[in-house]
Amino acid sequence: MSATSTQAANPPGNPRILIVGNAGQLGRELERIFAGFGPMVAVDRESVDLADADQTRALVRRAAPDLILNAAAYTAVDRAESERDLAYAINEQAPRVLAEEARQRNALLVHFSTDYVFDGSKPEPWTEADVPNPLNVYGASKLAGEQAVANVGGKYLIFRTSWVYGPHGNNFLLTMLRLARERDRLSIVDDQVGAPTTSIVLARATHTIVTGILAGRFGVSQDWSGLYHMTCAGATSWFGFAQAIFARATALLGVKAPELTPIATKDYPTPAVRPRNSVLSNARLQSRFDLQLDPWQTALDEALQSLRNSG
Ligand SMILES: NC(=O)c1ccc[n+]([C@@H]2O[C@H](COP(=O)([O-])OP(=O)(O)OC[C@H]3O[C@@H](n4cnc5c(N)ncnc54)[C@H](OP(=O)(O)O)[C@@H]3O)[C@@H](O)[C@H]2O)c1
Repeated sequence: MSATSTQAANPPGNPRILIVGNAGQLGRELERIFAGFGPMVAVDRESVDLADADQTRALVRRAAPDLILNAAAYTAVDRAESERDLAYAINEQAPRVLAEEARQRNALLVHFSTDYVFDGSKPEPWTEADVPNPLNVYGASKLAGEQAVANVGGKYLIFRTSWVYGPHGNNFLLTMLRLARERDRLSIVDDQVGAPTTSIVLARATHTIVTGILAGRFGVSQDWSGLYHMTCAGATSWFGFAQAIFARATALLGVKAPELTPIATKDYPTPAVRPRNSVLSNARLQSRFDLQLDPWQTALDEALQSLRNSG
C-alpha cells in the first residue's frame, strides 16, 4: 500500500487524541490529517513546557487521550552540544513521562526519533537491528528517549525518520529557497547521504498505520508495538537534494537557481558531528504494515506544490 495513494478511513469509535508539539513541522501536519479522527487536544510550548515533567503529566491527565502523538522534540542539533540538559529533558524525560501516562491509560503512544542515533559508518541502509552509536548530543538524547519509551512498554510505536522538511518551519528546503533570493552561489555538503522526508508524507503514513491498528487490522499490540524506520524511499546527498530543489523550484515557483558547488563536510564545520550515511531501511515498516512511503523526489514535488498553492 502506498501512504500517498490510499487515504485510510477514520476508525470506528471516537478515540481521544493528544498531539504534543503541534506548531512544529510534523505536529502541524499531524493536526491537519488527524482532524475529525476524534476529539483532539493539540498543544505546543505555549500550553506546556515539556521540560517540566509535572506539567507534561498534568497535560495527559487533563486531555485523557486514547492516542498520544508526540511530535515535539529539541531539534536544534548544533545548539544541543551546549544545551545537553535541556535536550535530554525534552527528548528523554518527556517521552518517558508520556509513555508512563499512556501505559497507565492503556493509550497508544506514537513517538518519533532520528537517523542521527547512528554513526553513519555502515555503507548500507541502517536497520532496526543495527546498534546505534550517536555522534552528537541530539542523537544521544533521542536514543535515550527511544529507550525510555521502550522500557516503559505498553502500546507504543517509535518511528525513526530522517532529514525532515516541508512547507513550514525551519528546514533545508525553505533555507535553500531563502538563500536563492539572497545569493548567486551556494556551497553544499556532498558527502552526507540520507533520505529527505516530508512532514506531509510522515503524517500521512502515521495516520494510515494508526487507523489500521485501531481498526484491528494488525493484530494485538504485542504484534505491532515497537521501533520502525520510516523515511521516503531513495537517498541523496545534501548537494543532490539542493540540485533537485532548484531544478523543480525554478519551474514551479519561478525561483532563480544559484550556482551550486559540492563541498566536503570538513569544509563546513559545525558544532555537532553528523553521520556520513544515515539512510534507513524501511523493510520492517513495509512488511509489518504493508506500507511504502513515496520516493523522496515525489514528496519534494508535493511539498513545492503545497508552497505554490499557499502563495
Ligand atoms: N527535523 C529533522 O530533520 C528531523 C530528522 C529526524 C527526526 N526528526 C524527529 O521528528 C520529530 C518532528 O520533528 P520536527 O522537524 O517536526 O521538529 P520541529 O519542527 O523542531 O518541532 C518540534 C516542536 O517541539 C516543540 N518544543 C520544543 N521544546 C519544547 C518544550 N520544552 N515544550 C513544548 N514544546 C517544545 C517546538 O516548539 P518551539 O518551536 O517553540 O521550539 C516545536 O514546535 C522529532 O521527534 C524529531 O526529533 C526530525
